[in-house]
Amino acid sequence: MALLVRPENMQRINTPELAKAYIEEQIADIKAQVGDKKVLLALSGGVDSSVCAALLLKAIGQQLVCVHVNHGLLRKGEPEQVIEVFKNQMNANLIYIDATDRFLDLLAGVSDPEQKRHIIGEEFIKVFAEEAAKLDGIEFLGQGTIWPDILESEQGIKAHHNVGGLPEELNFELVEPVRILYKDEVRVVGEELGLPHGMVYRQPFPGPGLGVRCPGAITRDRLEAVRESDAILREEFAKNGLEGKVWQYFTVVPDFKSTGIKDGKRTFDWPCIIRAINTIDVVEVTVEHLEPAFIDHLVKRITTEVPGINRVLFDYTPKPPATVEYE
Ligand code: XMP
Repeated sequence: MALLVRPENMQRINTPELAKAYIEEQIADIKAQVGDKKVLLALSGGVDSSVCAALLLKAIGQQLVCVHVNHGLLRKGEPEQVIEVFKNQMNANLIYIDATDRFLDLLAGVSDPEQKRHIIGEEFIKVFAEEAAKLDGIEFLGQGTIWPDILESEQGIKAHHNVGGLPEELNFELVEPVRILYKDEVRVVGEELGLPHGMVYRQPFPGPGLGVRCPGAITRDRLEAVRESDAILREEFAKNGLEGKVWQYFTVVPDFKSTGIKDGKRTFDWPCIIRAINTIDVVEVTVEHLEPAFIDHLVKRITTEVPGINRVLFDYTPKPPATVEYE
């Protein structure tokens, strides 16, 4: 019988052996709960849903149906990685839905941050529910809930609603194989299940994705500038040994323009803001001070390679007073 509550004396899973034992236990529990029925899972590609998918896949194979909804606000290469890892390498039953146009059309002209988040969350549920309705014989919903989610919702301090927090009206019984684990344990289990290191140890990424890093009303060209500059930043952090050392880093492209010069001609383009931060609990956050030569290199790459950017700014603000994300 799967545990709903983490036992007080439960040993922290911090070795491959402990992870292996947990995986074996979960496989037995999942099989006992699900039998020969089907489980549906919204697979975002984040750590929790990916580890949840890998566990379910190991336990029930083709009885698991994963749905990956691309809301058009994912980072460069993310949908491709989900398809490569789960469909091609692990042979999962994966339905990929490119709903980019649906989301971006709805978001067009919407500048209020809360309204943007609301639209993204609601539309995600709609797309997922529509897909669920097309499938026969689904009785269970897999969910990558983890122990801090339970603690935070009990204490009423969960400020963020993730895309993928699915409503109870879907009327499925839940299967939550990582429910009693802390984040660090989910990662150890994920590695033991053979998921790529980069997927298991990736930096936090908000459910509304790049949408909150494209402040104001999202336009496709500015969103592309966020995606491309973010890809360059991540590539450079990895190349320079900063991946896994700096807690979170990303770019933001605000909706105002300034003048510049390119190839001897006047430009009127956006700035790109770099944010790189460290934290333990995300309640208080400090800024990572990057090497000046490295900053110069980032500025050069971003201004030359990303269309629409003619200036790079660095955000030196801790939390508080600023939040990590811009919206
Ligand atoms: P803030 O902006 O509140 O962010 O200081 C704190 C941390 O939470 C992440 N974040 C989110 N994570 N869903 C998430 O799972 C969300 O809607 C969301 N919004 C912000 C943010 O990236 C940072 O790590």
